[in-house]
Amino acid sequence: MSTEFTLNHFFNSNRPSSTLAINEQVKARWAKGQRLFHMGFGESRFAVHDKLHSALSEHAAEKSYLSSKGYAPLCETVARYYSGKLELDFKADQVIVGPGSKALIYALQLALGADLFLPTPSWVSYAPQASLLGNRHFYIPQGVELGCHFELSALDKLVQASRNRQKLLIVNSPNNPTGQMYTGEFLEALANYCREQNILVISDEIYALVQHGSIKHESIAKYYPEGTFVLGGLSKHLSIGGWRLGVALLPDTPSGQKLMTALEVIASEIWSSVASPVQYAAQVAYSNDASVEAYIKTCTAIHGVRTRFLHEGLASLGIRCTEPDGAFYITANFDHWKPQLNALGIHTSTQLAGYLLDTHDLATLACDSFGMDPAKMSLRLASSYLDMEKNEDSQRLVTLFESNIGDNEFMSPRHHPNMHAAIDEFERFVRSMAVVDHKQSEELLS
Ligand SMILES: Cc1ncc(COP(=O)(O)O)c(C=O)c1O
Repeated sequence: MSTEFTLNHFFNSNRPSSTLAINEQVKARWAKGQRLFHMGFGESRFAVHDKLHSALSEHAAEKSYLSSKGYAPLCETVARYYSGKLELDFKADQVIVGPGSKALIYALQLALGADLFLPTPSWVSYAPQASLLGNRHFYIPQGVELGCHFELSALDKLVQASRNRQKLLIVNSPNNPTGQMYTGEFLEALANYCREQNILVISDEIYALVQHGSIKHESIAKYYPEGTFVLGGLSKHLSIGGWRLGVALLPDTPSGQKLMTALEVIASEIWSSVASPVQYAAQVAYSNDASVEAYIKTCTAIHGVRTRFLHEGLASLGIRCTEPDGAFYITANFDHWKPQLNALGIHTSTQLAGYLLDTHDLATLACDSFGMDPAKMSLRLASSYLDMEKNEDSQRLVTLFESNIGDNEFMSPRHHPNMHAAIDEFERFVRSMAVVDHKQSEELLS
């Protein structure tokens, strides 16, 4: 006998997060000993810094629940840290600590019940979170063909069509999936527009410290402190995503305080508090310790060199890619091979990702997961796993990089065999497009 049950209606369309799904798929293929170049999952692969490792071990016996808002001294430390990094003035009562910034973004969306506005492309989880909550979301059309930039007029069109009094925009810089960043000038203009229109902003700054290009990271909170919620965490710049610790910094206003109370209610009813040993260890992560800060800089520089190498390698094959300024991603577009791809039965980015996986051992993520038109042949590529598949690999690369061997030698096939092999596979793919093209012209002529 089995008992029949149904699921809540919103599970008709929601699937597990596509980034986690591709990671599971790759691991299953690796477990079978299959070759696969993993560019599908953005996980910073560096080792846990020694001081964080020790702090976590030392506090393993801390078994009591901490406050739902976060351990008070940690909130103080976080406020000081982000005040310094963002050149703003945060106080401890503006800070809430959660089990990853993802959970805090969900809690904010739950508390606000707003219509959500997202640049195209946008990180995979914002829109599904809105759907789980029954909130509406709108994608702002891309302003520049490949990147995350958008026109204020395009946002305005959607804003004017929204009937919800509460409106929420999420900006993410450095950006996943493009690796691009917004300039201070753009953020200032956006802030002025949002203030005028009473639009609230989640500024997802999870990659704030993974900035390796020429654009300086700025927070929109600098221009719009009263309407911006800054999100951060330890997952990216310290490579400890699995520890699950994120932070939100809310405005220092009566509305900000009301929202903080709402988030504390959500936290107390859902996760109670973040794992206590992790919060104690996070104290060290946010303490401005010189060796931890130096480690963040080294890891970020390595992400920069590797991501740029991937970008240059693909661009030299004629693949159109976003130029990265931060994080460890690029968005690559294959639209100019559409006729050849169509001839192979490939009509969507998901089919293209499947084809590259099956035919070239290249694991990527289709950009329809990022809100792009499925017919647009764009893929997100993460550089973070290549040649760092095993923990020992990343440690070896850090040691090598710190020995000042120079970027050319560091990126040589000797030290980055999989990066080179992945680019070679893309070259084979691009060549095969020319063959399909040739066959098509022969068919036309015959
Ligand atoms: C743009 C962006 N925001 C938020 C997150 C969530 O990070 P976490 O929940 O680990 O803090 C991620 C993780 O991949 C991300 O890429």
